[in-house]
Amino acid sequence: MKIELPLMPPKDVKEAWEGQFSVFSWYNFVINAPSAVFIVTTRKENGRANAQLNAWGMMIGSGKEPKFLLQVMLNSDTHRLIKKNKEFVINYPSLHLREKFLKTITHFENEIDELIASGLTHEEPKVVQVPRVKECFASLECKLDWVQAVESEEKVTALIQGSIVNAAIDEAVLADDMKESYIKRNFACLLPEVINPVTAISLGYSGLVSLDIESCVEC
Ligand SMILES: Cc1cc2nc3c(=O)[nH]c(=O)nc-3n(C[C@H](O)[C@H](O)[C@H](O)COP(=O)(O)O)c2cc1C
Repeated sequence: MKIELPLMPPKDVKEAWEGQFSVFSWYNFVINAPSAVFIVTTRKENGRANAQLNAWGMMIGSGKEPKFLLQVMLNSDTHRLIKKNKEFVINYPSLHLREKFLKTITHFENEIDELIASGLTHEEPKVVQVPRVKECFASLECKLDWVQAVESEEKVTALIQGSIVNAAIDEAVLADDMKESYIKRNFACLLPEVINPVTAISLGYSGLVSLDIESCVEC
């Protein structure tokens, strides 16, 4: 039997942190769809790198017009810098880089280069003016198409679409075999926190996992 979920969580379901159910819909924590994390790099006004860990994004578009769509918090530096400079880079890290990419969540002072402060290295971009991340196995250089507010009332997030103007992948992760390809990339997938809507028990933490490629079935 399916349980119909109300828009807002029942009162027994407590927020794990203040504002959790304002920033996110609780549906995220009940449905629990995993998503690959990536680092969004932008350039600060002083030329240093800004870095944001993000899990809300995907490649869209079509053959000759590849796009990247991502959601960012309105109050993030990434949102401000993309609107200002109209460029960003999407960088995919492997799970083994987690200690470093988790450092990018820190709110650094403006004069700090957030890649260097996180133990990551700048890589020269080919088309845009925003650094790529050397340790990441793939980077998508993007130019801004548009920014769109997501919510109509209490505004929290914005949707950003960019045109992918250059893409690069580390040859070390290439393979002619499906499993081998995914093992080498070792995508870091975010598992949202788990809330059981029946018992109102909330685990209060999210997880990071690599794909269980052994259980892959052809489709
Ligand atoms: C696993 C994980 C996923 C995240 N996903 C997003 C996201 O999709 N969008 C977002 O705006 N912030 C996301 N964040 C929070 C940002 O990484 C964090 O607020 C960061 O400091 C913002 O950086 P900025 O102000 O330099 O843009 C995520 C954090 C974590 C730990």
